Amino acid sequence: MTEMLNLTRRNLLKTTIASGLAVTPWISQVAAALENPERLKLFTHGVASGDPTHTSSVIWTRVSPKNGEATLVNWELADDERFRNVIRKGSIKASAERDFTVKVDVDGLKPGQMYYYRFKADGLYSEPGRTRTLPEGKVDSLTIALASCSNYAFGYFNAYEVISADKDIQFVLHLGDYLYEYGVEGWGGEESKKLGREHQPAHEIVSLADYRERHGQYKSDPASRLMHAAHPLICIWDDHESANNPFLHGAQNHQPDEGKWFERRDASVQAYFEWMPVRDPAEGMRADELWRSFEFGDLATMITLETRHTGREEQVDYEEYLSNIKTPDQRQQFMDEVMGNPQRDMLSPKMKAFYKVHLAQSVQKKQPWRLLGNQIPMARIHLPKVNDIAAKQEDKTMGGYLYVGELDLPWYSDTWDGYGGAREHFYQMSREQGASDLLVLTGDSHSFWANELFDGNGHPMGVELGTSGISSPGDFLPYGETIAAEMDQRMANHNREVRWTDGLHNGFVKLTVTPEKAVADYVTVNTVTSTDYQVSLLKRIEIEKQGQHLSYTQGV
Ligand SMILES: [Fe+2]
Repeated sequence: MTEMLNLTRRNLLKTTIASGLAVTPWISQVAAALENPERLKLFTHGVASGDPTHTSSVIWTRVSPKNGEATLVNWELADDERFRNVIRKGSIKASAERDFTVKVDVDGLKPGQMYYYRFKADGLYSEPGRTRTLPEGKVDSLTIALASCSNYAFGYFNAYEVISADKDIQFVLHLGDYLYEYGVEGWGGEESKKLGREHQPAHEIVSLADYRERHGQYKSDPASRLMHAAHPLICIWDDHESANNPFLHGAQNHQPDEGKWFERRDASVQAYFEWMPVRDPAEGMRADELWRSFEFGDLATMITLETRHTGREEQVDYEEYLSNIKTPDQRQQFMDEVMGNPQRDMLSPKMKAFYKVHLAQSVQKKQPWRLLGNQIPMARIHLPKVNDIAAKQEDKTMGGYLYVGELDLPWYSDTWDGYGGAREHFYQMSREQGASDLLVLTGDSHSFWANELFDGNGHPMGVELGTSGISSPGDFLPYGETIAAEMDQRMANHNREVRWTDGLHNGFVKLTVTPEKAVADYVTVNTVTSTDYQVSLLKRIEIEKQGQHLSYTQGV
């Protein structure tokens, strides 16, 4: 462990040189603090903060239990990094009931301020963490890191480390797939064995004990600890926090011999609330109703969506339909009546009502920006023809893509593309609140995206920025980098809404929003299979306000 942490600290220094990113020296001190073996034993999973409001922030840690006994944990929050001016403190019990995790919703804070916090148990301090409240009034600039698809098995969370060291970043928006459910024989298993990053427990996670253990493994990763210590988290879950491709009554990766779906799902949600720095559900809210609105002064409102457990109908299974689609008319009928069926919803009525209220408020306040935290791609992304590529593949695994590409169908039926009617309704709802200038921030796909959004009548609805995996690989990478790059090009050529995409790199999007424009930097790390890595800026795009719409400007 210590050796890995030494590497981490060295990398932080290297990051400064390699990328030219503005690096805070504070995080190097935290990296050094992580080397204390006693601290690692007691606070194995680090500290975290999140779910900020204008006057509060949730701070989190876990104390490794001794003989299963409850431990009293003291906490303090200061407005200086040396903790000379402690302004709030208290104590809380870490007990088996919440898997020895503790969470404090620290309130009475000032808007737009940075704070430092730490915990103390058995006479030992945790590493310090840094958090921040939402700003009020006039706000000139906001910088957020977009992260998604952090798969422990596939490699090191180098991109987290870069995020932790960047002094411009104020909040991290994690768009889901914070962890993956697979066992060591599942997706990523082979890669994990080579790296010594096999999932724990070794089997696919199903029970509450399983989900807790997996969360613990992810939180003990050194780069994860640095990222959480450095910045407050705003987060939504996607599918893999429970199981691949869930919907209202089940999931693609849930089988009858794995017990009842709702018990499994509830276990995953319980573990999520124990282990993530999110505020416990308010009165009248169920735990699965994980949606939020964050107001950044007069600059922006960010609304996060829940598209997995509260409103989504079952995904369309292409295998049931494709062999019956022979003519253009049959294809159109499938798109209109099955994929686009307006009865197949994505969001719950309660989610929609919440969305409408907060979107309308943002418009009324004349904020220039409306950001959406959204799990799954929203743009129309149809698969281009791949027959020439597939013909050269020996293993024929491209067979599915072959059919879908030939018929010009959506790449996936799990994204908003698989719910065309619901997407149209979502756009209509947004327009009715006066907003056709959405800046949609998306994870899930393991590719970077710069997409323009249009409704069914071709009216502009905004821009979508998609972030790649922190470590999960792009879908076409198994066919080699040449083919993956070719597919990126074809994807952009084939789809009106896709301006640019990249499925070759891991990394994150650094989004800076000012009243005049939004700048998206697509930041990449050159490897996730070594902690020795380099950081580079793959692309920059700019988005400007143009009356009621957003205009996209191609950048570097
Ligand atoms: Fe993912």
